[in-house]
Amino acid sequence: MATLAGALILPGRTYDEKLTVKPSSGSPVIISTWKHGVAANREAWKILQRGGRALDAVEKGVNVPEKDPEVHSVGYGSYPDRDGVITLDASIMDENGNGGAVSFLQGIKTPVSVARLVMERTPHVMLAGEGALAFALENGFQKEELRTDFSIQKWEKWKKDKVNRPVDLHNHDTISLLAIDQHGNISGACSTSGIAFKHHGRVGDSPILGAGLFVDNETGGAGATGVGEVVMKTLGSFAIVENMRHGFTPQQACEEVVKRILKKVKDAEKNPVFFIAVNKDGEFGAYGTHAGFEYAISTQDGGTVLKGAGSMLAEVSV
Ligand code: GLY
Repeated sequence: MATLAGALILPGRTYDEKLTVKPSSGSPVIISTWKHGVAANREAWKILQRGGRALDAVEKGVNVPEKDPEVHSVGYGSYPDRDGVITLDASIMDENGNGGAVSFLQGIKTPVSVARLVMERTPHVMLAGEGALAFALENGFQKEELRTDFSIQKWEKWKKDKVNRPVDLHNHDTISLLAIDQHGNISGACSTSGIAFKHHGRVGDSPILGAGLFVDNETGGAGATGVGEVVMKTLGSFAIVENMRHGFTPQQACEEVVKRILKKVKDAEKNPVFFIAVNKDGEFGAYGTHAGFEYAISTQDGGTVLKGAGSMLAEVSV
């Protein structure tokens, strides 16, 4: 079997015809990353089902894993950085091309909701660190302890062992969520605590529009999860939307970008990245550099299901 700089290349699975089936016209579609996307989609679906706006759906959907202490790389209860602090990144985009983001935010359980207010109540796109926290507090958010016993125990163990595990499917699972509402409008949101035991101050791809998330209501949307440094060097979500603009299906668009990343980015074969995408017609796609990526999809006809995505390489071994 072929290898790419020592990584195992999986045979064959690429384009999945089933993913190109168009949903009934005017019916909502939601796609999100990982298993925790299932609960997020269900919350988002309630909003879309009653004719609500995609922007509300993506925010409320992403709030679910943000508040869930059992999801350890989004919001409350996450892995801390190497100084024992949980720092959060998030972004959101609406159907009018507006975007908001926060980075290096501490003490707020729902960073994506702060990102939305940055978009709606300031002339800016991103607020970071103390400024983002001050803005959140001015706008009614409460500062809270985000570390759970899990977060503290994992940090204590990391301090003792100082072993930097490679990013894997169990310590790095940003939520990206894209939705189309009954009016055909697309919005997206993304939220993460980033890589476990990252350097204090590190910011990843999730709050960078075009990297962790991109929505263009004429064409479609895309979102990322995985090692942000790789996504930031390639503006993966923007590239996927541009591919769709030039005629690719969402699935083809994701696959082309993953192939480009593995060809161009040094060490990408050791640093997994995964993408989801949806186009204006409600067709969706998902693909990753490495095996093991799951995504949640919700449609009128199919309900909410968790699916495994294709990849070019075998799962990263830890
Ligand atoms: N994809 C999220 C991060 O790397 O921070």
